[in-house]
Amino acid sequence: MQSLGFFGSFGGVYVPELLVPALEEVESAFLEASQDADFLKEYHHLLKHYAGRPTPLYEAKNLSKRYGARIFLKREDLLHGGAHKTNNAIGQALLAKRMGKTRIIAETGAGQHGVATAMAGALLGIPTEIYMGAVDMERQQPNVFRMKLLGATVHAVEVGSKTLKDAINEAMRDWVSNLQDTYYLLGTAAGPHPYPTLVRFFQQIIGEEAHQQILEQAGRLPDQVVACVGGGSNAIGIFQGFRNSSVQLVGVEPAGLGLETEHHGAVLAKGTPGCLHGMKSLALQDKDGQVRETYSISAGLDYPLVGPEHAHLQNTGEAVYASATDAEALAAFHTLAETEGILPALESCHALAYAQTLAVQGTPEQIILINLSGRGDKDLHQVMAQQEGAPHVHA
Ligand SMILES: Cc1ncc(COP(=O)(O)O)c(C=O)c1O
Repeated sequence: MQSLGFFGSFGGVYVPELLVPALEEVESAFLEASQDADFLKEYHHLLKHYAGRPTPLYEAKNLSKRYGARIFLKREDLLHGGAHKTNNAIGQALLAKRMGKTRIIAETGAGQHGVATAMAGALLGIPTEIYMGAVDMERQQPNVFRMKLLGATVHAVEVGSKTLKDAINEAMRDWVSNLQDTYYLLGTAAGPHPYPTLVRFFQQIIGEEAHQQILEQAGRLPDQVVACVGGGSNAIGIFQGFRNSSVQLVGVEPAGLGLETEHHGAVLAKGTPGCLHGMKSLALQDKDGQVRETYSISAGLDYPLVGPEHAHLQNTGEAVYASATDAEALAAFHTLAETEGILPALESCHALAYAQTLAVQGTPEQIILINLSGRGDKDLHQVMAQQEGAPHVHA
């Protein structure tokens, strides 16, 4: 490999030897493509004319009044597919085509990455298969149906906690058996090198646009940029536009039923160094070093590890990480719906919820930029179940 992709002590390539040549192939194709003007032109053309970039930056004045600070929303919910995942799926599907691969596989949690990959597969004419935990299939049914409509095959994963972690295991197992013709299109800034770097590259467009848009609209940079953190791709994408500046970068993890309980997914707050899915990062583990099951109301944040760059940014202090509970995220869902007429993804609601805490600590002139990573249509079933008082703990 040309690099081992370490961010401080996190990252690396912790995979069976069999996978190393495949990762080398992805790394060298990515390094070439990211320098190739024709590749970048096609990627940006599709992002603009197919996916609808640039996404708007919207000053949410009603929410600002409610929160007591100037709140701007980066509207990734308006991207084709309904979430930021499309940026990465289009980029990597183009890479797969360039590498001559004839089959794409992916994992998905909330289903947004699966939908984005199925869209990209249909667009580029590459057969696509998606691995998804059975629990996630149950709570994200509209996205399962969408993937199928887009022509993808969806494999239910019935092992472990039947969520994202297990879906990644199955996708990796498939990849090991089909390296010749298959491209593994990983959905977040995690996994073995080069994925954390490659996914950041395809998501940095969010931060680049937001940087320019906030200067145009507010005349200055924000005080904070806030994004939810599952694996960490929407957060690293928007952070990238504001690094090495005075802006405070804030990632928000799922505190589930509370950090004091076992039912959360706050890896940066409660994790310890560990290896899984080909990377060294922080992980929620038991006393024997086994990766623990996590819990969040939002399937997209229900992951017991985190992308290695976030673990590093927390260590260096370049970014800070906080958390929001299910109840706080749900309250933020209703607040945004009622104040602005926007139904946000439950994942994004964690960032919205913590922004309120930041606003309370600051002044009305404080500018908080929130990455609204996706739209909430996929979550209506979940929100409805909450209102009817249905139990939702699966872990
Ligand atoms: C709308 C939305 N936001 C956020 C996430 C979390 O992923 P990441 O941390 O990679 O942005 C997901 C994952 O499925 C998602 O669907």
